[in-house]
Amino acid sequence: MTDASTTTITLTVDDRTIQAQAGSSVLAACLAADIYIPHLCWMEGDTPDEAPASCRLCFVEIEGFKDPVTACTVVAENGMTVRTDTEAVRDLQKTALKLLFSVHRVDCKNCPANKACALQGIAKFLKAGLTCKPFERTLKEPEMDSRHPVFDYYPNRCVLCGICVRVCGRRNGQSRLSFAGRGFETVVGYFGSDAASAEDCRNCKACLEACPTGALVEKTTDGG
Ligand code: FES
Repeated sequence: MTDASTTTITLTVDDRTIQAQAGSSVLAACLAADIYIPHLCWMEGDTPDEAPASCRLCFVEIEGFKDPVTACTVVAENGMTVRTDTEAVRDLQKTALKLLFSVHRVDCKNCPANKACALQGIAKFLKAGLTCKPFERTLKEPEMDSRHPVFDYYPNRCVLCGICVRVCGRRNGQSRLSFAGRGFETVVGYFGSDAASAEDCRNCKACLEACPTGALVEKTTDGG
């Protein structure tokens, strides 16, 4: 039997021929070949069936597929022809971005992620600005959750990509973070606030490093 992880396949992406590992997603294949597709919720190591596909940014068109699809959830196949830069793709990506901005506090000057923020980067790439129009902006309350001993959480900066939840799980076996609430009220919550857990978080900080926006910010004091 052939081991998929060692089999190389060939795809055509925007008229370029690229090679990828069998079993990888179209998104992973393109990124590995330096073909950028906007994405927020995918993280290195996510297989197509693990990808949460919640940000709805990574649309591409694939020959033989009726509609654009999320590149993070489609397995790259040998001989596939992919387009990352069509009008339909860009329209979908701009709409997804506006929806993210419709629940986002756009206050970049006062955000610690300013100039390193993935949302800003994607807005720039799509030449879309930081606007949510024609959608209305709706923000959550409270602005900040300071209950965690190591970091503060800002719901209105969070894009609910879940990367902090997954990175914590991968690093620590079981994630101390999880989604809490439903619908518009969904936030990232945590459990394990005893001293030992706090010490583990202080020594890890993987979630802080992985957050693509300024949603998780390390406390400047020990928070105790
Ligand atoms: Fe594919 Fe978010 S990266 S939907």
